[in-house]
Amino acid sequence: MRNKSQFLRMKQEKEKIAMITSYDYPSAKMAEAANVDMILIGDSLGMTVLGYDSTIPVTIDDMIHHGKAVTRGAPDTFKVIDMPFMSYHISMEDTLQNARKMYQETGAQALKLEGSGEVTKAMESLVEAGIPVVGHIGLTPQSVNVLGGYKVQGKDRVTAERLLEEAIEIEAAGAMAIVLECVPRQLGEMITSRLSIPTIGIGAGKECDGQVLVYHDILQYGVDGVPKFVKTYTDSNHILGEAVQSYVNEVKNRTFPEEKHTFTMDVNMLPGE
Ligand code: KIV
Ligand code: NA
Repeated sequence: MRNKSQFLRMKQEKEKIAMITSYDYPSAKMAEAANVDMILIGDSLGMTVLGYDSTIPVTIDDMIHHGKAVTRGAPDTFKVIDMPFMSYHISMEDTLQNARKMYQETGAQALKLEGSGEVTKAMESLVEAGIPVVGHIGLTPQSVNVLGGYKVQGKDRVTAERLLEEAIEIEAAGAMAIVLECVPRQLGEMITSRLSIPTIGIGAGKECDGQVLVYHDILQYGVDGVPKFVKTYTDSNHILGEAVQSYVNEVKNRTFPEEKHTFTMDVNMLPGE
């Protein structure tokens, strides 16, 4: 399994960090088999596997339930888990208790928190307690209703400057890496060059030290459409949908099961009439 020092070295040596989300046992096994550097147990699971329309309804128990399954599927991969909506805003004590529970019970190697300001202080406390932390700025989906929708952040002087300051502040708080979501690539590049910790981009350009995408998006698995920054690598909706339809059709028209799927016995052994 990789560790914090290796991720730093990867940045220094310009070796890209490949990260993908994972929410359950099969996706975790697949990610580990593909040698991803980091798995993100993202609260995007609210949408991808629980069917909510944002990450806001996701609870700590949801995260732990899925996080444990990911750990069983990818025991040897570095796993980052999202602290969900409002689980790190109420008080420092509440934050630390939630963080302890998520960290100990899932076996993830780091926690990810969205935002800056007060959140940066929470990050400092977690690091001080011995819990590695990953930041997340730019488009922060837990604040979608404050941001006014899912849109690119930091396109003007003021907001670009603020994002750079936030990134610097998060590094100073002791974060081991930072996710940059939905920012112009020029800003992604500038933040990447100004920080010594790795930047992991999602819609933040190729100059980031690493990239992260949502598992269900790259596979087109259960998702209706994908954002501009996603590259899809297959069409699971189509491929898997056809397979399920074929099964249903074959049951209906008696094509399935065939002889090879069937057990037999000596008919003399059947009970008498
Ligand atoms: O939950 C998630 O999938 C994320 C990524 C989009 C970075 O936080
Ligand atoms: Na997330």
